Amino acid sequence: MYKVQINNSYDFKNENYSTYFPNLHKYPATMLPQIGIEIFKELKIKKHRLLDPYCGTGSSVLAGIASGFSEFHGFDINPLAILIAKARYTKLNIKKLFNYKKDVEYTIHHTKKNISPPPVTNIDFWFSKKVIKKLSIIRNSIIENIDNKKYQALFWLAFSETVRFVSYTRNNEFKLYRISEKQRQSFNPNVIDLYLKNLNKILNIYKDAYFPLLKKQKFQFYNKDFTYKKDKYDVVLTSPPYGDSRTTVAYGQFSTLSNEWIGFPNSRKIDSQLMGGKKNNTLYTNGFLSPFINKISKISYKRALEVSSFYIDLENSIREVSQAIQDKGFSIYVVGNRTVKNITLPTDQFIAEQFEKNGFRHILTYKRSISSKVMPAKNSPSNTVGKKVKTMHKEYIIICQNSSSFRTPACRGGRL
Ligand SMILES: C[S@@+](CC[C@H](N)C(=O)[O-])C[C@H]1O[C@@H](n2cnc3c(N)ncnc32)[C@H](O)[C@@H]1O
Repeated sequence: MYKVQINNSYDFKNENYSTYFPNLHKYPATMLPQIGIEIFKELKIKKHRLLDPYCGTGSSVLAGIASGFSEFHGFDINPLAILIAKARYTKLNIKKLFNYKKDVEYTIHHTKKNISPPPVTNIDFWFSKKVIKKLSIIRNSIIENIDNKKYQALFWLAFSETVRFVSYTRNNEFKLYRISEKQRQSFNPNVIDLYLKNLNKILNIYKDAYFPLLKKQKFQFYNKDFTYKKDKYDVVLTSPPYGDSRTTVAYGQFSTLSNEWIGFPNSRKIDSQLMGGKKNNTLYTNGFLSPFINKISKISYKRALEVSSFYIDLENSIREVSQAIQDKGFSIYVVGNRTVKNITLPTDQFIAEQFEKNGFRHILTYKRSISSKVMPAKNSPSNTVGKKVKTMHKEYIIICQNSSSFRTPACRGGRL
């Protein structure tokens, strides 16, 4: 077993994601940037190149900026996540930005003709005719007035928040569920008003909270999964998914209406492209996980195969990531150990094991209590509606270091 130490100073009790950095856009299972800031301090990592292979909205980047890092590369398969990250960390001319806002607002108010919506799957199932008409006008006003994609991003974020709110989805869920017929009958949102409020809020958050952080750092965000080419990084800070998207956090479903309305291709396929999304025909039988997967297979072979797919993908991904970390560089993974069929899977141990297999040394794992992460606190491991068990109230911060630094003071005795 790799050493795990409870460390309450990483609980950040009474703090949440936006305690220091306001949210530009809602996103599931975001990582507290405070974790990164503290761990960089503890490991004495300063001014370096950071990679996040599952960057989501870019919380690790915030931690790096606050710690004086100079270069950031983030990868995510979900285009909405990359759009949020790009919008946050692209330096814009504020005057130009607010001029675009005036133009967009003007066009929204003065468009009289009918605008066709983009191809959105089952559009009439998720939106009323009136809402479709207004959303199409807003969408067109953004495209017509702003030719620069860098400036468009913040306008799309306001649009995306609006799409979700004015759709018939239950807004407090990540998965797509439609509100009841009775609720639909009385649902009559003021789409334009809501969009303009969202836009105002988002532009002001960017101006006041993010713009001042942007100096000479370099940012690259890629809408794809990470494969090692030749770039080397000093540190990887990331929070990978805790399981496949279908049975843990539904990143694809959460984003699909926004992605389709904005116009990203293959929006409906995202969940199957994410880690663990593709079916696998063999059980994962290596190392730490083997007995756990065996136990699950005795209850449900199908679930054991699904779980295996996720760990096979995570194993492959760690192989890629470990090649990209410099000598003496650190990998810092923040994960929760999920429960399937009442069996808790030691993902923290798996990650340490995989990095060691790839020439790293496990330094330490901290265990923290989650107080405020936006994710389902309970789920149904049996996938039976209404049947719930407690899961994932703890998170693990797994710290490994590239092997050639075995004899650095940081590693002696397995302590920081
Ligand atoms: C826990 S979230 C990361 C959240 C991020 N730290 C933040 O604060 O916004 C995990 C992310 O992994 C992404 N993801 C899942 N499988 C992936 C893969 N194979 N390659 C790249 N990203 C992936 C999901 O789209 C999701 O955004």
